[in-house]
Amino acid sequence: MCSLRALKNNIFPCSEKGVVEQVRKISDGIWDMTVLAPKIAGASRAGQFVHVRVSDDFIPFLRRPLSVGPARGDFFRLIFTVKGSGTRLLAAKEAGGEIDLIGPLGRPFIIPGEDQFPILVAGGIGVVPLLLLDNQLPSDREMEFLLGIRSLKDATVDEVEVGQRRIHLSSEDGGVGFHGSVIDLLIKKLDELNHEKNIVIYGCGPGPMLYALKKLCQERSIPAYVSLEVPMGCGVGACQSCAVPRADGGGYYLVCHDGPVFNAADVVLLPGVLP
Ligand SMILES: Cc1cc2nc3c(=O)[nH]c(=O)nc-3n(C[C@H](O)[C@H](O)[C@H](O)COP(=O)(O)OP(=O)(O)OC[C@H]3O[C@@H](n4cnc5c(N)ncnc54)[C@H](O)[C@@H]3O)c2cc1C
Ligand code: FES
Repeated sequence: MCSLRALKNNIFPCSEKGVVEQVRKISDGIWDMTVLAPKIAGASRAGQFVHVRVSDDFIPFLRRPLSVGPARGDFFRLIFTVKGSGTRLLAAKEAGGEIDLIGPLGRPFIIPGEDQFPILVAGGIGVVPLLLLDNQLPSDREMEFLLGIRSLKDATVDEVEVGQRRIHLSSEDGGVGFHGSVIDLLIKKLDELNHEKNIVIYGCGPGPMLYALKKLCQERSIPAYVSLEVPMGCGVGACQSCAVPRADGGGYYLVCHDGPVFNAADVVLLPGVLP
């Protein structure tokens, strides 16, 4: 499968049967699945997603979009919250099982320039595309990686990964890391950096967090890119269920076709849930 837009953007999504290498529960309702899928693992750029067929049956009919997580060699990880029927079926897959994928799909994050200081700001499960972005930056790159969770029992990455990637955690209940939201932690970091760096922000997380992130970045004139994880139907630009309003008043963007990564200045974000 290869669309004209994909060709224009030099992105070549394909259909691939992956094999589940490992699946483990990280915390309450959060699963981490390693998939062997050489074509997708090799071609994916941070911010892109795969459209996953969660069952061999007709139901559920629609595929589920999930961000491509950390990739190494022929493998990549899917990290997901079990929300409804689709993700429940996915979590029930066992090592050795097949998984039907289309990807990588969507526009990725623009890799920061050498003169820029990236700050990765994740809320909850929004950490997934930022883990891949972290992988795609040189290991000695000066940067900050912030992750906000509600509490330790809702952790979206385990302690080992937090340590290895030097992720600064914030938690709403104060049980781990900075006590407060990831936006509060970001404000603290920005104040510490005191305008000495050419900052660019990469964000992914729930709607209210992205709204606050955009507002803060506008107030401080900091460029920001956000990945929008809105509900999707078809995933190919046909059903319009993933529309988000354009900031220039010129109608709507389709997240599956024009995103999921946007310059935060280009989209209207609302204080409630996405979109
Ligand atoms: C780009 C992207 C990346 C994402 N990455 C991640 C990730 O890495 N980890 C993670 O946990 N979650 C991620 N999500 C969210 C994830 O896709 C949903 O949580 C998941 O699809 C829920 O599926 P479910 O069957 O468990 O839930 P349910 O709520 O039971 O089902 C959702 C179903 O409803 C359909 N649907 C919803 N709204 C509409 C609509 N308006 N019109 C038509 N159909 C609709 C969906 O297609 C899907 O079939 C991502 C979403 C996007 C868009
Ligand atoms: S999901 Fe159908 S148009 Fe985007």
